[in-house]
Amino acid sequence: MLSSLSLKAPAKVNLYLEITGDRSDGYHDLVMVLQSINLSDRLDIRTTGSDQIYIRCNHSEVPTDQTNLAYKAAKLLQNLYPDFGGVEITITKNIPIGAGLAGGSTDAAAVLVGIDRLWNLGLTQSELRELAAQLGSDIPFCISGGTVLAVGRGELLSPLPALENLALVICKPRKLGISTVWAYQTFRSQNLLATKDSQSNSSQMLAAIASRDESSHRQIARLLYNDLERVVLPAYPEISSLKNHLQAQECLGVLMSGSGSTVFAITQNFASAQRIADSISESIEDIDVWVTTSSIGGIQDWET
Ligand code: C5P
Repeated sequence: MLSSLSLKAPAKVNLYLEITGDRSDGYHDLVMVLQSINLSDRLDIRTTGSDQIYIRCNHSEVPTDQTNLAYKAAKLLQNLYPDFGGVEITITKNIPIGAGLAGGSTDAAAVLVGIDRLWNLGLTQSELRELAAQLGSDIPFCISGGTVLAVGRGELLSPLPALENLALVICKPRKLGISTVWAYQTFRSQNLLATKDSQSNSSQMLAAIASRDESSHRQIARLLYNDLERVVLPAYPEISSLKNHLQAQECLGVLMSGSGSTVFAITQNFASAQRIADSISESIEDIDVWVTTSSIGGIQDWET
């Protein structure tokens, strides 16, 4: 039986995030288009002799105790299958935290996929997604990734045509992380559902993704939308100013991802993304910048 494996856990951006309802269970109904990107954490998972679940991480701000989502994912499977013992999980973090890029969610998704394989549980994709939904709204998406329409809390998924070679600049203010709970609670407390200022463009976004013609990246970039910008941008002028900076460059479109603090840009091609990234790194202090592309998949083997 396999005793260890190494997995790649990609981050995501939200190309579209519309809040369509306030639910009685404390969540919001959403219409989202989620896109995996080639910025990934590495997870090394191995079985151990004891019943313990150990988490190690190279990033000092990531908790290694029971509050870590990766720990919770391992514990969920251990409670269901108590005979297989424990696991040791080493997370090498490349995805920034508190960024709206689903870094914690993708690590938890990798733990579910990895333990299923190590313990030979034979869980189906839909069983894995159901377990994932118990841990967090974005985790079911992270398992198989790609380009996906997500509705409900974000856990009801329909695959969309894969967006290949979308060139992206990802910018994260180094000292600023945003709490997702805060962002949604503020949206609720400001009653922003009642004051929606725009028509829903989700069907246009889906059509742009399906069209696959030469101008589709340009159309997608034009339709980027995130309702959470309405609470986060006024509260964090730093993010507004970052967005303005990117919009002044040769970008096709710019948007905050999830609840922030990351802002990303879709660009014409990789060379243009590189130029924009260089300019942002030179002109803004304390910012981390990545140039990346869309990824067509979710959790996968780490290729060495
Ligand atoms: O599901 P997850 O634990 O990732 O969600 C974190 C928080 O974000 C929730 O506790 C809730 O406050 C908010 N949320 C929401 N509606 C969603 C997803 C998340 O209000 N669809």
